[in-house]
Parts: sequence; C-alpha cells; structure tokens
Amino acid sequence: MLDDLDQIMAVMATAFDPAWGEAWNRRQVEDALTLGNCHYFLVSPEGKPLTEGEIAAGFSLSRTGYEEEELLLLAVDPQFRRKGLGRSILDALRFAAGARGAKRLLLEMRRGNSAESLYATFGFYAIGERKDYYRTPNGERIDALTFACDID
Ligand SMILES: CC(C)(COP(=O)(O)OP(=O)(O)OC[C@H]1O[C@@H](n2cnc3c(N)ncnc32)[C@H](O)[C@@H]1OP(=O)(O)O)[C@@H](O)C(=O)NCCC(=O)NCCS
Repeated sequence: MLDDLDQIMAVMATAFDPAWGEAWNRRQVEDALTLGNCHYFLVSPEGKPLTEGEIAAGFSLSRTGYEEEELLLLAVDPQFRRKGLGRSILDALRFAAGARGAKRLLLEMRRGNSAESLYATFGFYAIGERKDYYRTPNGERIDALTFACDID
C-alpha cells in the first residue's frame, strides 16, 4: 500500500515537465514535511480528499507563515487534468490555510506557466516579479511572478 509520501512522489513523477526542473525529489518533500510548518493535500480522481486505498490524482504542498500560507507545489497527473481537480485542491488549500490562521495565500511561478489562468480565475492577483529568478536545466533564465489571494 502506498503511503502519503509515495502518493505525492507518484504524482510528482507524472506532472512536471523535466525541461523546467521544477519537480522536487523525495528527500526535499520529506525534509519540508519534517519541518512541521508544511502541509500537503492529496486529491482523489473525483476531486475529493483522498481516502484509504485510493490512488491520488494530484496534490499540493504548502508552507505556513505568519498570517500567510505559501503554495510550494501544485500538481495534477496529466490523465486527470482539465476536470477541475487543480481548482478543488486550491479550494481545499484555501479552507485549510484559513483554519490555520492564514489571511492570504501566496505563490510564485515561472513566467509562462499555463497554471496562471487557473490562479487568475481562482482569485490570485500579481504582487511582484523577480527578473531571471529561475534557471532551467538547459541554462535558460526565466522570471518569477508572485501572486497573492486573500482569504475572506
Ligand atoms: C496546473 C495544474 C495543477 C492544473 O490542474 P488541472 O486539474 O488541470 O486544473 P483545473 O482542471 O482545475 O483547471 C481549472 C481551470 O484553470 C485553467 N487551466 C488549467 N490548466 C490550464 C492550461 N494548461 N492551459 C490553460 N488554462 C488552464 C482553465 O481555465 C481551467 O478551466 P477549464 O478546464 O474549464 O477551461 C496542472 O496543469 C499541472 O499539474 N501542471 C504541472 C505542474 C505545474 O506547473 N504546477 C503549477 C506550478 S507549481
């Protein structure tokens, strides 16, 4: 039976294009979760919180700060995309982060990531830009865009 870390890593392996070098390895995820201020959410193929025996279709990983929660990773297995799961994960994150005391969600993404339209329709708005912040495995430099979403 897969444990939750296995489930995260299984989605990670399918969801991220190696061209961008954005996937985390198992050690990075483990270390984040050991810190105690990071949280994950696993979603089922039906867009519900994962229950025992199910295979995850997506996940989020986030980090709690003072009155803020930063989305570190959001991923959906390609075979389950465009069915609203990404949005379901964000809904669950917003609810859980609010319960943890967050007043807003934050995230940073590479310029051009198609996830931007999901973030925009969800209510994220741009708050900053870091020029040439990311470097891809082939050496290309890409700006980072920072977004926030208020939790009412
Ligand atoms: C970003 C990601 C999580 C979206 O997951 P998803 O389950 O397909 O998202 P949803 O089905 O909830 O999308 C909701 C809406 O967001 C927009 N959207 C999502 N993916 C999109 C894409 N590739 N291109 C354009 N719009 C997109 C659409 O408006 C979509 O609604 P629609 O399908 O009715 O048009 C998924 O594409 C993914 O895992 N990408 C790779 C990892 C990544 O880049 N993560 C984000 C940075 S960490």
